[in-house]
Amino acid sequence: GRVLLAYSGGLDTSCILRWLIEQGYEVMAYIANLGQEEDFEAARQKALKVGAIKVFVEDLRKEFVEELVFPSVQANAIYENIYLLGTSLARPVIARRQIEIAKQENCTHVSHGCTGKGNDQVRFELAYLALAPSIQIISPWRLEEFYTRFPGRQDLLKYAVDNQIPVSQTPSKPWSCDDNLYHISYEAGILEDPNVTPQKDMWRLTVDPEDAPDTPEFIDITFTKGIPSRVQNKADNTDISEPLDLFIYLNNAACRNGIGRLDIVENRFIGIKSRGCYETPAGTILRVAHIDIEGLVMDREVRAYRDEHVSLQYGKVLYNGLYFSPEGKLLKNIVNLTQDCVNGVVRIKLYKGNVIVLGRFSESESLYDMEESSMDVQGGFEPKDSEGFIKIQSIRLKKYGRSL
Ligand code: ARG
Ligand code: SIN
Repeated sequence: GRVLLAYSGGLDTSCILRWLIEQGYEVMAYIANLGQEEDFEAARQKALKVGAIKVFVEDLRKEFVEELVFPSVQANAIYENIYLLGTSLARPVIARRQIEIAKQENCTHVSHGCTGKGNDQVRFELAYLALAPSIQIISPWRLEEFYTRFPGRQDLLKYAVDNQIPVSQTPSKPWSCDDNLYHISYEAGILEDPNVTPQKDMWRLTVDPEDAPDTPEFIDITFTKGIPSRVQNKADNTDISEPLDLFIYLNNAACRNGIGRLDIVENRFIGIKSRGCYETPAGTILRVAHIDIEGLVMDREVRAYRDEHVSLQYGKVLYNGLYFSPEGKLLKNIVNLTQDCVNGVVRIKLYKGNVIVLGRFSESESLYDMEESSMDVQGGFEPKDSEGFIKIQSIRLKKYGRSL
């Protein structure tokens, strides 16, 4: 058979590549560029050296931002009320391109380097199977003949040396990372004790809020139908509308102001609890700004329905690897229906780890009526009507009150 392996350039997938060849497969390597810190040319050369017959390096950053990241901002998607889904969002994009290439190259199999205990195996494989129901999947870390052969990292290292697989000289960190344009995650190793505070230099993207500049930065973010469509900063003459550039600008602004760190214990889909640390710089800014503009323009009941039935549900769907599913499609469509009115500008201040909203306006969609809302102005509606409103609301409560 011929297999297309999702390859990262690291020790695990390099050993998997060679091991698959040993098992008699013809192996092609697929490297997805989601904006992670990586020398893609070096990874390509390494895959060839290890024995791949062909290597694909695919820049998927634009579709990642436009199709997964921005819609999840639109949805206020979040997992367990706190995790911004950085790894989860990348998987559908990676898996989809992998399947496209596998089909194009007549591969019978696809493979990946995820462990048998995590979310990523589920996410990749559910996506593979939704997109190519008859594709065969090789998941080495779940195969007895693989994991008994490589019970520890030392065994992988020895195999690499024995097989002339280049091994990086930089000592490996005592945790594992997964990064992309949207976030970085740190898990495992010393982080497995949920009460161990990670060392300061673990965090790779953001400065420590304590070390962030003493002067704030001011940024205006425009939303069009809930999608960030423009970022302006007068101080450095920034005015960006291109989605990828806009996102990268916000990432940098957030990073230098210490914004987007998180340290949590979450529940993986398969039922295991896991401690993870995350940095989601631009994502953290966009969530605050998006929720804020909705306050101005969105109908109360639409918003309540969406909050109750869509944001957490969609977060769960994404987390659990169900982007390509009937419910994923349904929820994405519902989100879109709620966002037609989400047009406007949010003015924010970035300061030592904080995203502070300074004001917001909408040219076309504001539901806010200054006169109606004013404490000083009579008018808009009859204050006397509130009296009846309260009376009616209190009918039940008076009965309840008898038993207090
Ligand atoms: N726990 C996070 C998630 O499930 C991060 C996973 C990181 N994945 C990785 N292969 N290191 O989304
Ligand atoms: C892995 O197990 O491969 C990484 C962590 C996860 O997928 O949750």
